[in-house]
Amino acid sequence: MTETKSKLIHTFGALAELGQEVANRNDFHETMRTSLHLLLGSIAIMRGGVARYSRFEHSMQLVAGRGLGDDFPLALTLTHEDERQFLANGLYPIEVSQAQVLPFVQVYDNSLTRTQIELIVPLVVRDEMVGALFLGEKATGEPYSSYDRDIISAMGRHIGVAVAQRKMLADLERQADENRKLFDSLRTTYKDTVRAFATAIDCKDRYTEGHSVRVGKYSEIIGEELGWSEDEIEGAAVAGYLHDVGKLTVERKIINAPYRINAKESAELNKHPAVGYEILLPIHHPYADVPLAAKYHHERLDGRGYPDGLYDRNIPYIAKVVNLADSFDAMTTDRPYKRRRPAAEVFDDLQRNSGKQFAPEIVNAFFRGMLKELTGEAKEKRFRKLLGREYMEAEGLVPLLRNALNGMSPTSPLTFINGD
Ligand SMILES: [Fe+2]
Ligand SMILES: [Fe+2]
Repeated sequence: MTETKSKLIHTFGALAELGQEVANRNDFHETMRTSLHLLLGSIAIMRGGVARYSRFEHSMQLVAGRGLGDDFPLALTLTHEDERQFLANGLYPIEVSQAQVLPFVQVYDNSLTRTQIELIVPLVVRDEMVGALFLGEKATGEPYSSYDRDIISAMGRHIGVAVAQRKMLADLERQADENRKLFDSLRTTYKDTVRAFATAIDCKDRYTEGHSVRVGKYSEIIGEELGWSEDEIEGAAVAGYLHDVGKLTVERKIINAPYRINAKESAELNKHPAVGYEILLPIHHPYADVPLAAKYHHERLDGRGYPDGLYDRNIPYIAKVVNLADSFDAMTTDRPYKRRRPAAEVFDDLQRNSGKQFAPEIVNAFFRGMLKELTGEAKEKRFRKLLGREYMEAEGLVPLLRNALNGMSPTSPLTFINGD
């Protein structure tokens, strides 16, 4: 009686430890080794192993072993029949000597005999086979009692849960990884499509070739300088790429007019923000309000822009970013009726119109981005690529930008100008 009692206490102790080990999601192999050690120790079994089962591969992999020597295979293949039998058996130990009908036992008879494996315990969790225990003889040489088998089943259940848990985690990780890949490829497709669209828009306007792409890049730089997140920066670029998409519906002769267009033509051209909005609205954009950027990129802080004559705080922020990028590109590229303006003049224009047309902190951000490139602080020479080397190497740009930045008053993120 006393012996049974102490055995029971010992077993419960082992089970509690095992439970703790399983709950601790540390290193899986370490958990398996400790679990096996506890199981073997609690009934004084000489040798044994834990294998994990992959249903997909119909194969078991040894994840922990003790005293098995080199004869025990690291991977064991199961037939359908084996799996069916193991599942039907549940967690009860199968006596190897009584299970010669199983194809598995026949195939691995040699290994099982050599390593003196007496019991196989399928690890079944929620009707799924997740692995098996292989147990050798008891140290006492006695046969396994029904009490021993109950303990083995109970501990096997814990080990099975740990194996299933590990499998679930691995599946989740794989799924997350696949999702990430899928997302990345979708993202690339989206970006490529946006770029293709930008090129299509630019094709129509032969005088301002590459305009949308440049506006996209300038918007991206502004986003970076404003400390936006990666997604927001990408959103700014997309908004820039697509801001003039409405021009696709404007007659080519108006867009390409080699003269200043008249009022009627101008009214036609000025429809492009609203048309762009209509085109972009049904598309689900992953970031930034791209349709609003298209609609309001010709608005001005002082309410003198179009199409709605909105005042500062009513203009979506992304539209203000694109507005500056757009205006900067218009000033720095040749048009049919006027040459591009020198950098000094452009800086002066942006500074003077800051608070009237442009949001001051956006002008600030833009100047900072440019200054960083001129002083070698920026990694890439993006402005140089977009504007040409000569343009960026004009005399005195750095002091000009520094002065401009010093001269501009610190501003709140939103400048409210009362239009009354
Ligand atoms: Fe435009
Ligand atoms: Fe534009």
